[in-house]
Amino acid sequence: MERGIAKFVGQGDAILFSSGFGANAGLLRAILGKNDIAYIDSYIHTSATSGLIGTNVKHIGHNDIDYLDMILERETGKYQTRLVIIDGVYSQNGDLSKLPQYIAVCKKHNCLLMMDDAHGIGVMGENGRGTAEYYNCLGQVDIITGTFSKSFGCVGGFVAASEKLIQYLRYYADSNVFSAAMTPQVAASSLKALELIQTQPEIRKKLWTNVNYLRKRLTEEGFDIGCSISAIFPIMVRDNKKVYEIARELQKRCIFVSGITYPAVRTKEARLRVSVLASHETVQLEQLVTALVEIRKSIPF
Ligand SMILES: Cc1ncc(COP(=O)(O)O)c(C=O)c1O
Repeated sequence: MERGIAKFVGQGDAILFSSGFGANAGLLRAILGKNDIAYIDSYIHTSATSGLIGTNVKHIGHNDIDYLDMILERETGKYQTRLVIIDGVYSQNGDLSKLPQYIAVCKKHNCLLMMDDAHGIGVMGENGRGTAEYYNCLGQVDIITGTFSKSFGCVGGFVAASEKLIQYLRYYADSNVFSAAMTPQVAASSLKALELIQTQPEIRKKLWTNVNYLRKRLTEEGFDIGCSISAIFPIMVRDNKKVYEIARELQKRCIFVSGITYPAVRTKEARLRVSVLASHETVQLEQLVTALVEIRKSIPF
């Protein structure tokens, strides 16, 4: 599984964890200390920020390459390891990182780049190899992490990087060394999912047909879906209470949509979060749109 996932995402080696959360947190606790710094996009996942307690942290806004370039220039020589942390696909807004620009800026300033591709792997790129494949940048990101809890339909996580870094993590990533490994059943399921992702591209094709259809329909009906270009659709409501009311109304109509409120996002960014699957049929996507239009009449959003 480790060899398979490393090859798939274009890295030298990989190490498995029993969750994606453990992969991000364990990796970062192992490689960054008080003389190092993490430059983080404001929308990275909590699993990454939770690994940064013992190191220096600087927020670099969202996809703000010019600011990153400026700050890396200004802080040259101030820290030992400098690591920029981004997501491939952002988990709440469904938008993409500007990966090629990040690669260029990190190279220019001799800084490492880590990309959490939890929502990119299996979905992005011609062969589902993730955001790096989508941008034709395979092999150019220092560290890629991910989870098996999204497109793989299982649980577990991984860090993929150079053989040397992975060897280091086999000794120092606490959430791997001091926690139970994923069970054989889960490893076998994840391995099967990896095989299906590689051998059945029609599943991914269907997913993208669904994504494009739903984006078009939600936009036509005037819903605010932000900058989403992936299978994650935020439908902005901007009111915590209304989010739960709408989610409940949808559930009454047999549609499961997560409500995302504070503290996952700021209160004024409260939203419904729709995740589109390859197994959805057009008629189901239409049911969602019709239900939202109907609910909007009694709960304006
Ligand atoms: C971007 C991102 N990274 C990491 C994780 C953690 O993955 P897991 O659910 O396997 O712990 C998630 C999911 O919840 C996520 O959305």
